[in-house]
Amino acid sequence: MDGTLPHHTAPVLILLGPPGAGKGTQARMLEEKFGLVQLSTGDLLRAAVAAGTEAGKRAKTVMEAGELVSDDIVIAILRDRMAQPDCEKGVILDGFPRTAVQAEALDALLAETGSRIEAAISLEVDDAAMVARVAGRYTCAGCGEGYHDDFKQPIQAGSCDKCGSTDFNRRADDTAETVASRLEAYHASTAPLISHYREQGALLGVNAMGEIDDIAAKMAVIVKEATR
Ligand code: AP5
Repeated sequence: MDGTLPHHTAPVLILLGPPGAGKGTQARMLEEKFGLVQLSTGDLLRAAVAAGTEAGKRAKTVMEAGELVSDDIVIAILRDRMAQPDCEKGVILDGFPRTAVQAEALDALLAETGSRIEAAISLEVDDAAMVARVAGRYTCAGCGEGYHDDFKQPIQAGSCDKCGSTDFNRRADDTAETVASRLEAYHASTAPLISHYREQGALLGVNAMGEIDDIAAKMAVIVKEATR
């Protein structure tokens, strides 16, 4: 990777929200509906950990503690991913930016590509409900589709709706204790970005406490409007 970003004006959407808010769930649905590319820095970091890269080694213990990985690592990982040609279709940023430094880096990166933030969508939820959401979560090992013990089970028990795989994973950081740290990190470092994007005129809030499909319908209206 030579670090050069392709020039394009594809839309960029940001999803903001605490752990369990439904960023990944909604991003995957929007990806399918609008042909945008979901970029989850959590997924990119977990892939780096699994691959045993230098960045992955540095990130592993931080993620297990529910703290934020350093800005330099996350920005470098996102930049590499944004340089790939599929991002010219437009991207949904899921879990990035999470600090003021990352928000600044994103502005600089988008200035290079020529694209801009169409909307920063804040998923508004009650923190108290997030522990149950996160602790019951599991994903398909084959395609990454997300499920939940109580709220979203595969149609046919034990088999992924999307790819039919019978292997599922649970994340190491999805314990009640770690979720508490992740919520703390969200309120200390990420929630202030809500005002930042409000001041830029890009912020849109969505009540994300209902049924997944009802929230998806509200999100689709917002994204259609933002990307037309
Ligand atoms: P990351 O992977 O981004 O985790 P997170 O932000 O904590 O978010 P989650 O994936 O837990 O929640 P989500 O909002 O995507 O919810 P989901 O849709 O899965 O980050 C992990 C770690 O990586 C961080 O702690 C940090 O260490 C590091 N990291 C990542 N990005 C970083 C960055 N930019 N800077 C620094 N460090 C970074 O839904 C959760 C569950 O609820 C699912 O089971 C789902 O089926 C269910 N569900 C979803 N919506 C609903 C609903 N409406 N009703 C009922 N259940 C629902």
